Amino acid sequence: KTDQSVTGKSNDRKVKKLDGYVGFANLPNQVYRKAVKKGFEFTLMVVGRSGLGKSTLINTMFLADIYGKDHPGPSLRVGKTVRVETNRCLLKEKGVNLSLTVVDTPGFGDAVDNSDCWQPVLEYIESRYEEFLNAESRVNRKLQHDSRVHCCLYFLESNTHGMTPLDVEFMQRLHDKVNIIPIISKADTMTPDEVTEYKKQILQEIAQHKIKIYDFPDSDKEEDRENLKKLKARVPFAVVGSTEVHEVDGKKIRGRKYPWGLVEVENLDHCDFVALRNMLLRTHLQDLKEVTSNVHYENFRFRKLACFSADGPKGMTNSCAPGAINNSFVAVWNPLAQMEDEKRDHDAKLKKMETEMEQVFEMKVKEKKQKLKDSEIALQQKNEQMLKRLESEASELDERRRQLEIEIREWESSSGISLDELRRRSLERETT
Ligand code: GTP
Repeated sequence: KTDQSVTGKSNDRKVKKLDGYVGFANLPNQVYRKAVKKGFEFTLMVVGRSGLGKSTLINTMFLADIYGKDHPGPSLRVGKTVRVETNRCLLKEKGVNLSLTVVDTPGFGDAVDNSDCWQPVLEYIESRYEEFLNAESRVNRKLQHDSRVHCCLYFLESNTHGMTPLDVEFMQRLHDKVNIIPIISKADTMTPDEVTEYKKQILQEIAQHKIKIYDFPDSDKEEDRENLKKLKARVPFAVVGSTEVHEVDGKKIRGRKYPWGLVEVENLDHCDFVALRNMLLRTHLQDLKEVTSNVHYENFRFRKLACFSADGPKGMTNSCAPGAINNSFVAVWNPLAQMEDEKRDHDAKLKKMETEMEQVFEMKVKEKKQKLKDSEIALQQKNEQMLKRLESEASELDERRRQLEIEIREWESSSGISLDELRRRSLERETT
């Protein structure tokens, strides 16, 4: 009976009441401690024309000079080509570490012809996915740092009559690659009615162009649902940024001071800054990371692997360029083509092995030939030495023979008898 709760189907499982405290209620604390120890990583991208208040907003949001003193500022920017710059810093709050990467795109929308200025941004986002995919595919899959872009704040200009063609094109090109959150910058330059009208218009255009901006996840809790509804009503967030703090009635207030009053950055009646900051850092940071990982990165991985099976290991080609993703997998993945590819790979491997073996064989033959040549030379040298020695021995013997003949002649003349005569006489004596 007890096993029923273990082996039965999940919906048949009985909730067992424990007689005492076992300890697994502490599991969330373990997870919490581990997460705090590890720290958190978040990559935030800001895109928009120069001077829209991107760096001011980021510095206001994190209450720190994220960009640093070297940040050139709008008027000092050089060049009109889009670059991608990253600023990494470690932020600490009540013992929790946040490794923040802010990705800026200076030069975006600043040229006369901005038709392709979304391209470097797209390339950057995909290169981060590629890096992550490569790291995941290694034998040692320990990732040093997750640099995928988790959120893109897209800055829309205030005081315009809707989205520009560049805004539409950018969002259409990137909405299935990254979480886009539209921002209306410098909201203090518009009246509240203008802001409301402008927001309505932007939402209408987003729907009309079928752009998918970041969608807040639903919640089971009634209270959360209520808060979520209020948060959704503020999209696109109309924000004001300021790093200046003013003192009003003894209270320090961050805001922008005008002759007619103070625009308070952290006042929800003045702008949506607090709603955006809470959403990004308090309530939805983890969801933004999860959507990046489970939706955008998975889409990228799918496209990449689909291309890999269809075109061989050449990476992503035009046949799987953005837009082709949602076509069915069957259209891209073809088992016969894959078998053909595998056969081609196998043949190529065989050929490579054959060439390598031939090279080794040639090398061995060459070595053998050299050895033979060396021993032939050594033998020849030995022969020559021997010949020389024999020649010198022969000439020595010749000399000795000549000396002996002289001695014989001297002896014959001194004894008055020739050697032949001596030999004849001794022969006769022997016979008698
Ligand atoms: P780049 O550095 O060129 O990319 O510009 P940026 O978008 O980072 O703009 P930045 O934050 O440097 O701000 C440009 C100017 O706008 C500065 O003079 C800011 O003081 C001003 N500014 C920033 N935020 C706001 C705002 O909310 N309202 C108003 N009225 N001015 C702002």
